[in-house]
Amino acid sequence: MDIKSVIMAAGKGTRMKSETPKVLHEIFGKPLLGYILDNVKNITNENFVIVGHCAEQVKDYVEKNYENAKTVLQSPQLGTGHAVSMACPMLKDFKGLVLILNGDIPLITEETLKNFIDFHKQKNSDLTIMSAIFDDPSGLGRIIREPDSSLKCIVEEKDTTPEQKAVKEINAGIYCLDWEKIQPAFSQLSNNNAQGEYYLTDIIEWGKKNGLSVHAYIMENNEESFGINSRLHLAQATKIMQRRINEKLMINGVTIVDTETTYISADTEIGQDTIIYPSTYIEGKNKIGKNCKIGPCAHLRGGVEIEDNVKIGNFVEVKKSKIGSNTNAGHLSYIGDSEVGSHVNIGAGTITANYNPLTKEKSKTVLKDNVKVGSNTVLVAPVTVDEGANIGALSVITKNVPAWALALTRSPMRVIADWVKTQLK
Ligand code: UD1
Ligand code: CA
Repeated sequence: MDIKSVIMAAGKGTRMKSETPKVLHEIFGKPLLGYILDNVKNITNENFVIVGHCAEQVKDYVEKNYENAKTVLQSPQLGTGHAVSMACPMLKDFKGLVLILNGDIPLITEETLKNFIDFHKQKNSDLTIMSAIFDDPSGLGRIIREPDSSLKCIVEEKDTTPEQKAVKEINAGIYCLDWEKIQPAFSQLSNNNAQGEYYLTDIIEWGKKNGLSVHAYIMENNEESFGINSRLHLAQATKIMQRRINEKLMINGVTIVDTETTYISADTEIGQDTIIYPSTYIEGKNKIGKNCKIGPCAHLRGGVEIEDNVKIGNFVEVKKSKIGSNTNAGHLSYIGDSEVGSHVNIGAGTITANYNPLTKEKSKTVLKDNVKVGSNTVLVAPVTVDEGANIGALSVITKNVPAWALALTRSPMRVIADWVKTQLK
């Protein structure tokens, strides 16, 4: 079935109090918008992201990361109904389902979206909204039902009567529409409400007036509908995401010693019997093999591929690097833009100097199989240390080192006999 999505990401996110547009705020190195786009990518064949506030920045992110997504400008931003209407010209002759999503609900899952669409089809619905039930529904649009419990309308909190305000069922901000039937609504919405905005939620009443079939799908796990409006929400969502990811990894055979202090991104794959020690932070896309030991206090920053039986110890930071099997980097090191072979030993305090702050260029460090790097070494990239070579401790390596050689740059040690005694006289 032909399904497209419209993702609303034009709002300012006033409550974030930020120069960064709300949808680009991150959880584990991935913007909120990225979570939504990843969740729809296996369901839809084309996605429209409505951009407005800091449009260029959001557009840039979408274009760099998502092939099947296009951005559509909404300027000025006159509300969620107005936002979706911006996509109408692109969807003019489209016959199929349109999934509409708020751009600020990163905890929704692909599975829930699939169940939602199945429900829409089963009910032969023309318009389905996702709802959730909360003990404290404050700030959210309330779902108002008829006495026979069928859907009546959605009322934004600022427009509620005291009676409506007490309703605990809320609008999660996800909609599925039979596009051909609902499209005319978008030229007929009014902004006659407390916020003077064109509300997307008014399409429910419009649908009912026009004799269409409208339904609400109550989601099983209300935490998936959690919308990010403030920094407090962002921290709460990060915690929920942390718990969810850690549980999944543990079920798949990864040991996490302290789930509270271990943060692992959703895009990190970890092999069986790997142990993650406390206070480890893993963001971005990474792949870690089997039987590895990571941490305590390790930091993987994305683009990291680690093979089996590798040890990344305390205060080791790794970014955009490949690390071969049975390699150790046990203590206090930085490995960036590197290709490290198998059975390599990286001594404590080793740094790959990958960045030239004058040219802003990053360069690569290559350590071939069986290389041993002594403690406190600086590898000034671009540099290659060939197979089996050793680096003496405290060296600054600025030239390639041939296979099986010893390279060292420190000055020879001097011993001055009885020097201390001569000072004491
Ligand atoms: C919206 C819903 C509310 C629901 C809640 C769920 C409306 C009118 N209300 O309220 O019923 O309970 O989400 O989280 O839809 N946006 C635009 N252009 C605009 C305005 C907003 O693209 O002109 C985008 C925002 O960037 C955001 C999304 O739409 O991603 C929702 O906007 P927001 O202001 O957060 O709506 P809520 O007040 O949370
Ligand atoms: Ca919101």
